[in-house]
Amino acid sequence: MEQLMRDFFLFLSKNKALTKLAKKYGLRFGASRFVAGETIDLAVKVIKDLNRKGLAVTIDYLGEFVDNEHEANEMADNSIIAIEAIGREKLNSQLSLKMTSMGLDISDEVVMRNMRRILEAAKKNNVFVTIDMEDFSRCQKSIDIFKQLRSEYDNVGTVIQAYLYRTEQDMKDLNEYHPNLRLVKGAYKESPEVAFPEKKDVDENFKKIIAMHMLNGNYTAVASHDEAMIEYTKQFVKENNIPNDQFEFQMLYGIRTERQLELVKEGYKMRVYVPYGTDWYGYFMRRLAERPANVAFVLKGMFKK
Ligand code: FDA
Repeated sequence: MEQLMRDFFLFLSKNKALTKLAKKYGLRFGASRFVAGETIDLAVKVIKDLNRKGLAVTIDYLGEFVDNEHEANEMADNSIIAIEAIGREKLNSQLSLKMTSMGLDISDEVVMRNMRRILEAAKKNNVFVTIDMEDFSRCQKSIDIFKQLRSEYDNVGTVIQAYLYRTEQDMKDLNEYHPNLRLVKGAYKESPEVAFPEKKDVDENFKKIIAMHMLNGNYTAVASHDEAMIEYTKQFVKENNIPNDQFEFQMLYGIRTERQLELVKEGYKMRVYVPYGTDWYGYFMRRLAERPANVAFVLKGMFKK
């Protein structure tokens, strides 16, 4: 049943008509629990509040799967607005983005131009940029672009997904770039030909790549709400004398909020991924897919007056 619901929400997350409708009608159905707001001003307010509580942030102007150049340029402009707000307001925040919103599916020229514009603005404002990893069909291209950009800029990192079979080899290939990587389990619906279908195998691979990346001396962001992965990381860094400034935990805005604060109290660096903007629909559906228990929360929100 849980798998069925998961597939259903992942299917809904890709529906273009619903995406458009959602943009038109604004944050609905409890999405504001996971999305900071529709404007940069609202996002800045949320970030200031999180920073005050000792939480670092990575901000994401929501958008994905853009198929025309005008819109891709606009998405990049909005990311630059976010970077400038971080600089101006002296926020403790990085930026995250999806390359399909910067023109990845349009042409190499469009996506590279937009990425370089963003990374230049980020360099000027001392902001680190993480390229989120999207579905498997875009993985190779995303990694190739990351390698190119990493050879030009210091302030760029990307994401590696534990559910893919190819991940261990990708980590080995990326090691020469000493990348700052966010490690995650993986959020998209992938076929068993490319990804571990069983949670226990994904978890094992997750632990394996956390260990690999840390022992190679690279900066590691462990992005998970799973207590078992958090405990594993804590134990691993203790046993291997990994200093606290070589890793951080990351969680999504609105998920396990109390645990985020506890980890700060325990002395760990904790970064919250804060999405904002009008294109919230796909992101919201993936959060529901991860945890069907959230659906009850959404239904309550829908019927509450
Ligand atoms: P898992 O889903 O196994 O959950 C373990 C436990 O965590 C649950 O039992 C529950 O207690 C809690 N939990 C998990 N999800 C919850 C929810 N929605 N609400 C309440 N509790 C919940 N993916 C990707 O493919 N590309 C990317 O670039 C990113 N980027 C990214 C950034 C950050 C900061 C995070 C935290 C995650 C991502 N992800 C991602 C998503 C990631 O791949 C994965 O889908 C989710 O983090 C869910 O997996 P977990 O590791 O949290 O554990």
